Amino acid sequence: MPNAAITGTGFHVPENVYTNDDLTKLMDTSDEWIQERSGIKERRWVEDGTSGIELALPASRMAIEDAGIPVDKVDFIIYGTLNPDYQFPGNGPLLQDALGLGTIAAMDIRNQCTGFVYGLASAHGFITTGVAKCVLVVGAEIHSSGLDITTRGREVSVLFGDGAGAAIVQATDEDRGILASTLHCEGEFAKELWCEVPTACIKGRWTDEMLAEGRHFPYMNGRNVFKHATRRFCEAIDEVLELGGVKKEDIALVIPHQANQRITDMVTRRMRLPEERVYSNIHKYGNTTAGSIPIALAEAVREGKLQRGDLLITVAFGSGFTWGANLIRW
Ligand code: ACO
Repeated sequence: MPNAAITGTGFHVPENVYTNDDLTKLMDTSDEWIQERSGIKERRWVEDGTSGIELALPASRMAIEDAGIPVDKVDFIIYGTLNPDYQFPGNGPLLQDALGLGTIAAMDIRNQCTGFVYGLASAHGFITTGVAKCVLVVGAEIHSSGLDITTRGREVSVLFGDGAGAAIVQATDEDRGILASTLHCEGEFAKELWCEVPTACIKGRWTDEMLAEGRHFPYMNGRNVFKHATRRFCEAIDEVLELGGVKKEDIALVIPHQANQRITDMVTRRMRLPEERVYSNIHKYGNTTAGSIPIALAEAVREGKLQRGDLLITVAFGSGFTWGANLIRW
């Protein structure tokens, strides 16, 4: 059975930077409130009319180039997003066409902030069972076109940014790759962090009343998300360490989903992890949901934070609720 190793990474974020001060012109908020509650200083938001594929394509090309392979070596695309360009089909098929990849398999993963962790676990499964040899795993989001950027939506909208990350996962006989994954979901809490509209549950998919109430914008019960996230991040790290038979001290780097710096700090403290081994770039990009881990991974690699043979954990929690982690030998 081959191993499934990450051989290339890439990312792409929009050019337009929105600082916290910029947001004070749109809503009643402050740089101090946002930084203190989330660690975010700025985020990138796309120009109106930009598609998710316009972010995912350069991120994917960068990962393919980094892996040193021709584009047509990719034989499977897994695309994680909660913001597909259209109701259907998903963005996987759109990216497959944009890359000129003929008839290879492409699918979307709808696991929100946990999309990339589920994506890596899926790529590992497809490779080890011989379904695929070279999987492009993408996490990409355009949040900005769907946020309520008025005072009504400020608790949510200040947190989220746009961006895409990608990784190439290849079959290899080398002694490295994805060693273990743990995946969870607790649908009981689906409505604690969700976007209700458009909904197939009603004719026409929405009503004027729903739009007036802002039910087409994301809703988050912030306190509950905080409580569950801090617990589940820690559990997922412990589980993947146990599955891999390795100790916390052996981990060179943890890349958590960039949800909120306060969540990351609490998990770092509770797990007694050295701060320098827990990667963070949320101050620059905000929460890019499925994009956040692959963007952070691509940056961490370029900053020299991972050497061949190092042990890496990627861990996430998000809407669903969903959570999970991957243990990877780099
Ligand atoms: N700017 C200024 N004030 C704000 C803003 C804002 N952007 N948003 C909310 N407020 C106000 C509220 O209206 C409220 O005002 P009130 O007291 O007059 O009613 C007040 O700030 C609440 O502030 P806090 O006391 O800090 O509230 P709380 O302790 O509930 O914290 C918070 C809210 C920061 C959202 C917290 O629950 C949290 O950090 N939750 C985690 C949520 C999160 O990070 N999710 C990440 C996305 S999901 C994921 O990736 C897993």
